[in-house]
Amino acid sequence: MTKPLSPIDTAKFVAAKRACDYVESGMRVGLGTGSTAAWLVRSLGEMVRDDGLDIVGVPTSTRTAELARQVGIKVTTLDEAKWLDVTIDGADEFDAELNLIKGGGGALLQEKIVATASDQMIVIADKTKQVETLGAFPLPVEVVPFGWQTTKALIEETLASLDVLGDSSTIRMNGDAPFVTDEGNYILDLHLGRIGNARQFGIVINQIPGVVENGLFIDICDVVVIGHGDGRVEVKDITKGTTEESVIEFVDTENLFSDLSD
Ligand code: A5P
Repeated sequence: MTKPLSPIDTAKFVAAKRACDYVESGMRVGLGTGSTAAWLVRSLGEMVRDDGLDIVGVPTSTRTAELARQVGIKVTTLDEAKWLDVTIDGADEFDAELNLIKGGGGALLQEKIVATASDQMIVIADKTKQVETLGAFPLPVEVVPFGWQTTKALIEETLASLDVLGDSSTIRMNGDAPFVTDEGNYILDLHLGRIGNARQFGIVINQIPGVVENGLFIDICDVVVIGHGDGRVEVKDITKGTTEESVIEFVDTENLFSDLSD
């Protein structure tokens, strides 16, 4: 028997389900990472299995690759696919311009490379991810392990000259050891409170030796699909300047929910 979905899971699920409308047979699709993206991968897997959807997925992490294979989506590498039709991924924060903070799950580097190599990036998120100004969510920055403490000190020194409220950072841990990304790097979470000029911030931080990439996605996202706990979805398209609302009807006895492993 399946448990009824919580409002937050309903919001993530309906956003993911609505985003599936952007996927057609023949497409090369970037598959995001995180709990919302996992709903997307499951939904696409169901479409492959039940509706004959024929797509190739490029996962943004080893855990998404594993899930995609489990649900029957053909998976390839970005180097094989070269360019993608669409990437669909979650986000930790998005603002009115659809600029994002990503990397809460530690996959920001592959996520940014894959989203940038796509004709269109669609973000799926519940309403809680919408913010006026980015920065309340700690900004993940991927750094090489060599000399990471020096890199951390340099980042903190740089924060003093930038339009942010906070100036501290923490190394992300996995138990007693630093969390290691799929690319073998570490993550520093920057506690900024508010990022006044996200565009400038991203450029300056990436200049520091040892920094591989930061979790600010500026001018990358085209559409955000916002899910609500009552099944409503809003679709904001920054290119078209439109916002549409609809309701996703579903019964939570769909096979999809019994596939849940987390
Ligand atoms: C993964 O590294 C992240 O960028 C996720 O996309 C982001 O943290 C959103 O995750 P949830 O969908 O789990 O909130």
